[in-house]
Amino acid sequence: MRAAVWWGPDRAQTVEDVGLRPVGPRELGVRITAANACVTDVIDTKPRPWPAKAPQIRGHGAVGVVEAVGAGALADPSPDHPGEEAVKPYVQSNANAGAAPIGDPGLFKAFHGMDGVTRIATATVDRASTDPRVADIFKSHDLVRLKRVLAEQFCYLLGGPCAYTGRDMKTSHADLGVQDIDFNALVEDLQAAMTKEGVPFRDQNRLLAKLAPMHRDVVQK
Ligand code: HEM
Repeated sequence: MRAAVWWGPDRAQTVEDVGLRPVGPRELGVRITAANACVTDVIDTKPRPWPAKAPQIRGHGAVGVVEAVGAGALADPSPDHPGEEAVKPYVQSNANAGAAPIGDPGLFKAFHGMDGVTRIATATVDRASTDPRVADIFKSHDLVRLKRVLAEQFCYLLGGPCAYTGRDMKTSHADLGVQDIDFNALVEDLQAAMTKEGVPFRDQNRLLAKLAPMHRDVVQK
């Protein structure tokens, strides 16, 4: 196969013959008939959202013909949670939620139970993923899963009847390049969602106080 290869910042891309490995499980082999290259293929120094690890074969927006189907490639990637993408296996545990629940039975009620918590998690993700300050970080991530596990995490931390089934905070945010300013923006989006839900400020602050120490696992130094 002939491909344009990017060898690193400040180095010319070259067109050359590259090997093609066999199609693996959950992969499709596509004979590309056309592809475009745009600015995202030539930006090579910005730390995010492109990890900029060389060498890379650039170009996207391809069209072609499927010539090989790997095992399970056409199966639902997440049969337990339709609409979500598959994630690498991990051990599920409430400990992944990053903190112990707040032991006040009235607090979950102040968030209007599971319905309220689900609305808040959904609205927070909707706000953040369209918030010009942080929207880039959420691009190409599975927001269906994020809304579900974030609601579980809030429910669990607020003492509601939920188990947290997501990944731990360090693993989930590794490689996202989240900085202090992004963390603060997300907190503001969450505050706006809680205010819209009518959660009293003192109760909002109790959830925020639980989340604040997670800063060390979420923000990259
Ligand atoms: C204390 C603050 C935060 C909490 C409690 C939190 C919680 C979570 C949870 C529960 C997940 C899903 C884990 C899973 O899929 O198993 C997640 C993923 C994610 N978070 Fe956060 N988060 C926080 C801060 C942030 C910030 C500040 C940003 C960016 C501005 C961010 C961006 C993301 C993104 C893009 C994902 C998806 C990662 C992926 O697709 O693998 N998070 N977060």
